Amino acid sequence: MPPSTAVPGPAPGTRHQAPGTRLPPGPRLSALQRLVYWPGRNMLEFIRNNARTYGDLVTYRLGGELVFLVGDPNHIKDILVTHNRNFTKSRGLERTKRLLGNGLLTSEGATHLRQRRLMQPAFHRERIAGYGRTMAEYAERTRTRWSAGATLDVAQEMMRLTLSIAGKTLFDVDIERQAAEVGRAMNDVMESFWTSMLPFPDLLERMPIPRLRRARAARGQLDAIIYGMIAERRPASAEGSGVASPKPLRGEGGASGRDHGDLLSMLLSAQDDEAGDDAGRVMTDKQVRDEAMTILLAGHETTANALTWTWYLISQSPEVEARLHEEVDRVLQGRLPAVADLPALSFVEKIVTEAMRLYPPAWIVGRRAIDEYPIGEYVAPPRAIMIMSPWILHRDARYFPDPDRFHPDRWTPEFKATLPQFAYFPFGGGPRRCIGESFAWMELVLVVATIAQQWTLGLVPGHPVELQPVVTLRTKHGMKMTPARRG
Ligand code: HEM
Repeated sequence: MPPSTAVPGPAPGTRHQAPGTRLPPGPRLSALQRLVYWPGRNMLEFIRNNARTYGDLVTYRLGGELVFLVGDPNHIKDILVTHNRNFTKSRGLERTKRLLGNGLLTSEGATHLRQRRLMQPAFHRERIAGYGRTMAEYAERTRTRWSAGATLDVAQEMMRLTLSIAGKTLFDVDIERQAAEVGRAMNDVMESFWTSMLPFPDLLERMPIPRLRRARAARGQLDAIIYGMIAERRPASAEGSGVASPKPLRGEGGASGRDHGDLLSMLLSAQDDEAGDDAGRVMTDKQVRDEAMTILLAGHETTANALTWTWYLISQSPEVEARLHEEVDRVLQGRLPAVADLPALSFVEKIVTEAMRLYPPAWIVGRRAIDEYPIGEYVAPPRAIMIMSPWILHRDARYFPDPDRFHPDRWTPEFKATLPQFAYFPFGGGPRRCIGESFAWMELVLVVATIAQQWTLGLVPGHPVELQPVVTLRTKHGMKMTPARRG
């Protein structure tokens, strides 16, 4: 709990008031809007306009919830780091849980701590350095598949690529053949997320709405693929049984007896030394499935988004594009990039840093207060939802001069040193900070460098570039681009 401060009394003229508390200002919404939260493109405008009109702390009631829109980096740090124990993850999670079960992204408290401890080693810098080769090789496969002048949906291409990379590096399977199927299934599932924002999501879930029916079928498909991967490694287990293999598996990489050096091997062999009984020490198939699904979803969709926006921004700036080409040609001299090249590919890194500033894939991070929470001169009541949006902070002129301009050169070491800690936070912060951050940085730089060695991507004239803020910041109509072979 944060230190308790005096609770300010109600102030005359404040719109939302609860007994004994005074809430920050905010927009007045109609009764219907307050009950039914309808996500869509306008959500981005809605939150940005509110931040501009009312400042760093805004409240409104939406979808039956009291929401605090938090725009001060210090407050964000307090919520995500300093006082994180006073918060749980917020409501959208209920639907996420239907897909991801109790994986790292959705679990709370002791379960989360245990799972994080078990999975952390798979994401250590040294471990993921071994994945660099696969990342560049799969990007090379992608660039080889393309032909000059053909129209591509770069959003789909990047989705397919990052899914294949996640499949190979984390589960040692060549998912490329199934990528379209998995991609479609993920898409159906993601598009059904809006129902969690409506009242009675459980009831909705059972209704014969075609989109939801598709999402249920898609979930079944994804489950089949993942349980299939588990069964291959742990043949003794019954599909979906939720029963752990009785033997401790430390270091064996599953019943197939081989450590594939990937995440799945670690999940199958991980042991929680602090758990009392044998059965509780290893993960059940259900737990492994939940973690695998979590990583597959959290790990590929976000990175694909970041890459798609990166290609779009590069296509809009010939000067940035020319310097990108100069750097990859000079540093790589025609060979595929490797992990050792990363420090020299500093302009590529600045480009992706700037792309994630303008189009942060995780555009909001939400938390729900457990106990009353003093924030600034106000007090958030228990259950209030705190919304912290990289989309807003990253385009705030106080931190980023000329904020809407794509300007990779702003990321000098001096600029970074003076930037407040949570003015830029594409990967969140605190104990729930993205576990795949180093993985993502490496993948982003290696993929951009590999593709830029050979191709220039031009936006198809007239293609509508529209934002679709679902769980991640997607493009509504994909990203139609034409590759041109470089000199
Ligand atoms: C550009 C790419 C990525 C972005 C922008 C991103 C962003 C984020 C953010 C903001 C969170 C914190 C959410 C919160 O606090 O509520 C998060 C958590 C997480 N991310 Fe990522 N992520 C990316 C890539 C990845 C990759 C590549 C993986 C795995 C291979 C991954 C796995 C996870 C997991 C498992 C969590 C939950 C961590 C926990 O709660 O302990 N992410 N990510």
